[in-house]
Amino acid sequence: MPPLPGQPGIGLLGFSLMAGRIPQEFLDQVLARVDLVEIISARVPLRRAGHDFVACCPFHAEKTPSFTVSARKQFYHCFGCGAHGSAIGFLMAYDRLEFVDAVEDLARQVGLDMPRGSSETQPTLQPLLELLARAERFFRQQLREHPARQRVIDYLRQRGLSGQIAARFAIGYAPAGWESLCQALLAEGASPEALLAAGLASRDGQGRLRDRFRDRVMFPIRDRRGRVIAFGGRALDVTAGTPKYLNSPETALFHKGRELYGLHEARSANATLQRLIVVEGYMDVVALAQHGISDAVATLGTATTAEHVERLFRVVDALLFCFDGDRAGRAAAWRALEAALPLLRDGRQVQFLFLPEGEDPDSLVRREGPAAFTQRLTQAMPLADYLFSELRRHGDPDTLAGRARLAERAAPLLEKLPEGHFRDLMAARLRQEAQLVQTRLRPPAAPALDARGAAERNAQLTRTPLRKAIALLLYRPELAVTVAADDPALRARTPPGMALLAALLEALRQTPGLTAAAVLERYRDSREGEILARLAQWQPEVAEEDFRFAEEFADILAYLRRRADPREQLPDMLLRRGTPRALSVEEREVLRNLGKPKKL
Ligand code: UTP
Ligand code: MN
Repeated sequence: MPPLPGQPGIGLLGFSLMAGRIPQEFLDQVLARVDLVEIISARVPLRRAGHDFVACCPFHAEKTPSFTVSARKQFYHCFGCGAHGSAIGFLMAYDRLEFVDAVEDLARQVGLDMPRGSSETQPTLQPLLELLARAERFFRQQLREHPARQRVIDYLRQRGLSGQIAARFAIGYAPAGWESLCQALLAEGASPEALLAAGLASRDGQGRLRDRFRDRVMFPIRDRRGRVIAFGGRALDVTAGTPKYLNSPETALFHKGRELYGLHEARSANATLQRLIVVEGYMDVVALAQHGISDAVATLGTATTAEHVERLFRVVDALLFCFDGDRAGRAAAWRALEAALPLLRDGRQVQFLFLPEGEDPDSLVRREGPAAFTQRLTQAMPLADYLFSELRRHGDPDTLAGRARLAERAAPLLEKLPEGHFRDLMAARLRQEAQLVQTRLRPPAAPALDARGAAERNAQLTRTPLRKAIALLLYRPELAVTVAADDPALRARTPPGMALLAALLEALRQTPGLTAAAVLERYRDSREGEILARLAQWQPEVAEEDFRFAEEFADILAYLRRRADPREQLPDMLLRRGTPRALSVEEREVLRNLGKPKKL
């Protein structure tokens, strides 16, 4: 990526900015307005510890907190696993966002509009998104205007849906025929290639462009930002040879095993979501919403994957899987359980509800009404009960052999659980269920490291005065004003890191009020960035109030000035070269005039 024109002080470092099309000033503005503590505490329970906040690290399993969040630096760091970063970095890691999406998310939270032309994550995806948005409009328009619309409206009515709910889910109609959508979109200037890439069309044996969805009720599938990325279509008449439901194929935008139908709608309908119900079908989601149960989502005809569960746990801490009571439903539930186990850290909850055979949430809520259905939901089985009841089905708990089998089958499952109280409880329950004195759970793979003492850590981090100066500056960026742009200390370019210090001072002078995190964002994905991130871990080893930041910083600057002074530097350098005899005549002259070199 080319560096931004007119970027202050960056050329000095010889690497380009990674921000791409997002101007530096905009990033600075966003980071100046967001509050990292607020952002993290919305996702991870934080506890105050002095000036900082601590928590059990969300990025690795641990029981004792080594994840710290500094409000001042707007920076987080885990002493256990080394995860670190700014608010942008946190959203990228925790919400799994692309850089640009993370910035956009933050910008929206603080009420800033993204600069024009900077929000396309990948330029190639933008035309596809636009095409899908147009297709959505087309399908909805057909539901209002197509000559066959009454048949479709009757179908939706017969399934109990109101116009309001159909509108909330943006349900539409793909007409019968082979090229209704294609013709409409081509007429608006879309290219055949784009229609194919968006999964809206295919080519037949003769190479003709054909609509993928024909004579179907259309359900748009949205990403977390509400953009249409795919469709599901239900056949109005289920006939032999055509599937009842047809999804978009896998495209650059759509990966079935990752997306959940209705997640965006559930988030929009609920200011605060406590729980999500995971059901199997599109119509289950829509029918539940029709009856006021608006927190259901559906997988898209695939088994529940770890990615699904992860995505859901980013939104809520409690999941309720709702499956048919038949064999297929039980198998699906077990797969969901396996996908959920590794993600069940403390505070998260998973329940299972099995419906009577032959029923699905759609049929049941319509037959019994929402009150009875909600009553069922309260009787869902906790994951632990479900897990052990399944295991008991496979081994008779009244015999020793049966209990041994149960233990044998349970252990590998429980070993998937992350370290925490829940894991301990499950191990205890297994001991009880299998009546074993001892369990054989192996310890989790990555035990948390103990946080090292501040003094010891500081010593490791800041081995040279220059590093210490940078660490102090990251902790107290306002120290930058104590150094003039032409300070002689900055003239010495020889010690590694001097250029970095000079660039930091320059940036902080140009943009007063930059936090450590904002400074670090300028060095994202660079070697300097790694160094800075390490130095950002530095903390005063005494109470902040007692630490003399200004004096320590001034001392280091004074030392650097001495080092930069040619009269100081030369003899040092000369002497290091060997005996005075190895020196040139001029050099010996200099040395004589200076007298004996002073040591620092
Ligand atoms: P079901 O067959 O249980 O249908 O499929 P349903 O949800 O009860 O549908 P209605 O009530 O008859 O309209 C459950 C889910 O499996 C996927 C779809 O995602 C559907 O919502 N599926 C089903 C397909 O992808 N293709 C199919 O042919 C059938
Ligand atoms: Mn159904």
